[in-house]
Amino acid sequence: MRTILVVNSKGGCGKTTLATNLAGYYAVRGKNVALADYDPQGSSMAWLEARHASRPPITGVEAYANPLRVPSDTDYTIIDSPAALHGRALSELVRKADTILMPVLPSPIDVRAARNFISEINKLRKVVNADVKLATVANRVRENTLAASDLDEYLDAIRLPSGKKLPYLAHLRASQNYIHAAGRGLSIFEFAPVKTLPDREQWARIFRWINQAGKAAAAPKVRKAS
Ligand SMILES: Nc1ncnc2c1ncn2[C@@H]1O[C@H](COP(=O)(O)OP(=O)(O)OP(=O)(O)O)[C@@H](O)[C@H]1O
Ligand SMILES: [Mg+2]
Repeated sequence: MRTILVVNSKGGCGKTTLATNLAGYYAVRGKNVALADYDPQGSSMAWLEARHASRPPITGVEAYANPLRVPSDTDYTIIDSPAALHGRALSELVRKADTILMPVLPSPIDVRAARNFISEINKLRKVVNADVKLATVANRVRENTLAASDLDEYLDAIRLPSGKKLPYLAHLRASQNYIHAAGRGLSIFEFAPVKTLPDREQWARIFRWINQAGKAAAAPKVRKAS
């Protein structure tokens, strides 16, 4: 089972949007998906309630109130996290994840917050989960704006403590598709491809990376001969 944590302590950056679209994408592909909502606002659970019974099913877990238990045949557990998540609560979610996606909005305030949060996550990873894969996604991007190019440049240049580049996977455009999907319990992958083609192309890089990250995590660790 894969466990993908969507996290950023900054409010409103797109955590629920990423989490619900990830859940919808894998459900449409016939995977068994659990969506765990750690946010007492319950936005992911509200999304699931709006989802029509005819859509591919997703198991909801109100994880802000209950222990995280998912069916044993779950292929993907997607964790939606609350804003202002730090310290011990953050550490517990990082420990559970094999993959972390961090959405960031194009604004100087969000970039500053992202800088601090990435350094907090990196410190935590070292202590609780050194194998977890982390990547960033720019969200709600308006092409050809100064804020968008600044964010692009910033995310593209981040290095991990090891000196390796922090993967910056994609920018997702600002699109009404996300707003319409959110209200109806849908992912953009459940709309006509012709309407969502630019969005699907942007997501393709995210799914490719998640796939590769999973293979890397599953590969046996090779010990170097001394
Ligand atoms: N790419 C996008 N294009 C258009 N609207 C978007 C996009 N991403 C997110 N939104 C909208 O922005 C708002 C905030 O997004 P979302 O709820 O996903 O953020 P969040 O990080 O989960 O917020 P919170 O910290 O409150 O949990 C929502 O109304 C959502 O529909
Ligand atoms: Mg949210």
